[in-house]
Amino acid sequence: MQKKTNFLLLTLLLLLTAACGQGTQDSSNAGLIGGGIVGGEEVKDFDKFPFIVALDKRNADETSEEKEFIGYCGGTLISKGWVLTAGHCLAIEPTHITTGSTSKSEFSAKVKILEIIKHPSYKLSEVGLPLNDVALLRIEENEEITKLDFSQIAIAAQPGAPVLSPGTMATVMGWGAKCESFFCQALTPDSLRAVEVPIVEDEDAMDESSYGEYFKEELMLAAGFSRGGKDSCQGDSGGPLFVNNGAKNVLIGVVSAGAGCARENFYGLYARVTTYVAWINKTITK
Ligand code: ARG
Repeated sequence: MQKKTNFLLLTLLLLLTAACGQGTQDSSNAGLIGGGIVGGEEVKDFDKFPFIVALDKRNADETSEEKEFIGYCGGTLISKGWVLTAGHCLAIEPTHITTGSTSKSEFSAKVKILEIIKHPSYKLSEVGLPLNDVALLRIEENEEITKLDFSQIAIAAQPGAPVLSPGTMATVMGWGAKCESFFCQALTPDSLRAVEVPIVEDEDAMDESSYGEYFKEELMLAAGFSRGGKDSCQGDSGGPLFVNNGAKNVLIGVVSAGAGCARENFYGLYARVTTYVAWINKTITK
């Protein structure tokens, strides 16, 4: 009985979340959707984390009203030619990435996407949670990106690496909604935001009071506080969850899903980067 209730509750929450996400895709908001992150603060210094990008869709038809649609998802530059994002972000096919500023509308670089590769096992689970929620975007060469110091960023390599231990504080960034309500999602500021959340023990995310059996520990990483209050939210998807180990920002998660945003016991769910390192390396070196 408990299980059934949870299933229904989760399905409902996830459907609502998805429906809200759709709201932000309204073309009337084109280029204006901004904001980001529940319970966090504005990122002041873009130079400290120049690897975040916003996904951008440009309409090939120049006469169309829907010429541009920036920032419906985030992404991370993992090398000068590749961006890691979430598989479910490809529901709207991005044409460009934009970066170079904390302001989503005043980016300094707009770079064409040459190839889109979704993880071959990406799919939605029975309750609508994305599984294997990662994708790679190959981008055109760009001077501003080429000059970035890629030694400052690393992809978490080892499952169970120290940066992944529960309680470790991680940072998540994005231009997504500041709270889960429809209103928040429609009226969001333009600046990049960040929040710190602890990595959560898998068992806690698998608890009956949380995602139960729908949390797949191999594929997902949960981060957040059981009391809620701080989280990523709609529009942050595809963006980075990382831990600074003193020398580098180590990318450990890709913003993926959640039942609502910042709710008690319902942590943010991230694609567990360590699971995908082999696929990422194989894909970007082929
Ligand atoms: N699916 C959302 C998006 O497309 C991200 C949701 C993250 N939710 C959360 N509670 N952390 O932007």
